[in-house]
Amino acid sequence: MEFDLLVHNIGQLILPKGTKRPLKGQEMKQLNIMENAAIGVIDGKVAWLGPEAEAVTFSAKERVNANEKVVSPGLVDPHTHLVFGGSREHELSLKQAGVPYLEILAQGGGILSTVTSTKNATEEELFEKASFHLERMISHGVTTFEAKSGYGLDPETELKQLRVVKRLKEKYPISIVSTFLGAHAVPPAYKGKEDQFLTEMAELLDEIKEYELAEFVDIFCETGVFTIEQSRQFLQKAKEKGFGLKIHADEIDPLGGAELAAYLEAVSADHLVAASDEGIDRLSKSNTVAVLLPGTTFYLGKDQYARARKMIDEGAAVALATDFNPGSCVTENLQLIMSLAALKLKMSAEEIWNAVTVNAAHAIGKGMEAGTLETGKDANFVLWDIPNYKYIPYHFGVNHVQSVYHSGNKLWERMPYGEIQLSSAR
Ligand code: NIG
Ligand code: FE
Repeated sequence: MEFDLLVHNIGQLILPKGTKRPLKGQEMKQLNIMENAAIGVIDGKVAWLGPEAEAVTFSAKERVNANEKVVSPGLVDPHTHLVFGGSREHELSLKQAGVPYLEILAQGGGILSTVTSTKNATEEELFEKASFHLERMISHGVTTFEAKSGYGLDPETELKQLRVVKRLKEKYPISIVSTFLGAHAVPPAYKGKEDQFLTEMAELLDEIKEYELAEFVDIFCETGVFTIEQSRQFLQKAKEKGFGLKIHADEIDPLGGAELAAYLEAVSADHLVAASDEGIDRLSKSNTVAVLLPGTTFYLGKDQYARARKMIDEGAAVALATDFNPGSCVTENLQLIMSLAALKLKMSAEEIWNAVTVNAAHAIGKGMEAGTLETGKDANFVLWDIPNYKYIPYHFGVNHVQSVYHSGNKLWERMPYGEIQLSSAR
């Protein structure tokens, strides 16, 4: 057997267990680690995984020495608002003055400010800007992710955002899942006419399906945005049209979004900072993945984080995501989220790795394709410049990626040390 690529001398090869459903509760504590390992790739697929001692017997067109460092599956980011116009650094001073997130929104800022910038941007401008952020995500180890619309709130701009995601799928050789979040906020002209707004957004579903512009439909179910009943009706329509479901659920107030997500068999319920005991119980009895976004809680300056320990201890499936967006969590770095999960959600390193790989893949309907390394599957992996898998949550806020591979091709590589231009500094 001759490999196209052989990555050998891997100190720890992280092998999350792939199954038809997400890992739940105690299962999340199991993380399979192969020490002194190697991976062989043929035609972009994992052809062989095994001990270093055997690797030396194979021939390969290209050999990469991992120098006893760590290799993991490509990370999966299952919740991002990647496509948007403008930025909102001017809101930081409002946050510092203690103005709550929903109050900024009620004053026409927040999401509505980004809606204006997104309406004013051309499709080309949005595409360029999203490409920039996407490449930064890849450089931080992500090879599969989800991107939502939701900064249009009118048919034209929502479709413009979704077309950008479709073009990103064509441009980049990585796996992107698209979500229609037309129900992200109530435009000022529809205040008091929320039902009418949702009816108009639902009218887009057929076109979105026909042109394959999104696989999932999401809604911001929250006080002052959309009620539980409005969310149920809207998502039910989407489900009947064949879309998978996701919900921005119980982020600020415990409205019952977790319960609704379990009831509708949504692939995920996201945020869940305020999820009730009943909501956590329903999630633990379902295969709906609790997608936790500790970066958002951190960035909004809240003290109360999602109750990850209770969720896992009661048997729920937990995943982690950046929630990358211009307002409530401005970072593309999923490694930072892994640190926050350790420090603020009290998740173990094993749970965290499962939450950013196999469970994150299940949270976007890609559980059978992404988030694991198994023979026959796409060779999407990251070579990390870390001594062991516990190191990422520990050393926070920086990029530990050495190189990123998708389908056996190197997508990104860090500049080697020693390349700083010392001479020009003199
Ligand atoms: O997931 N909570 C609602 N939506 C986004 C924030 C979007 C924004 O502030 O622009 C979130 O945090
Ligand atoms: Fe979000």
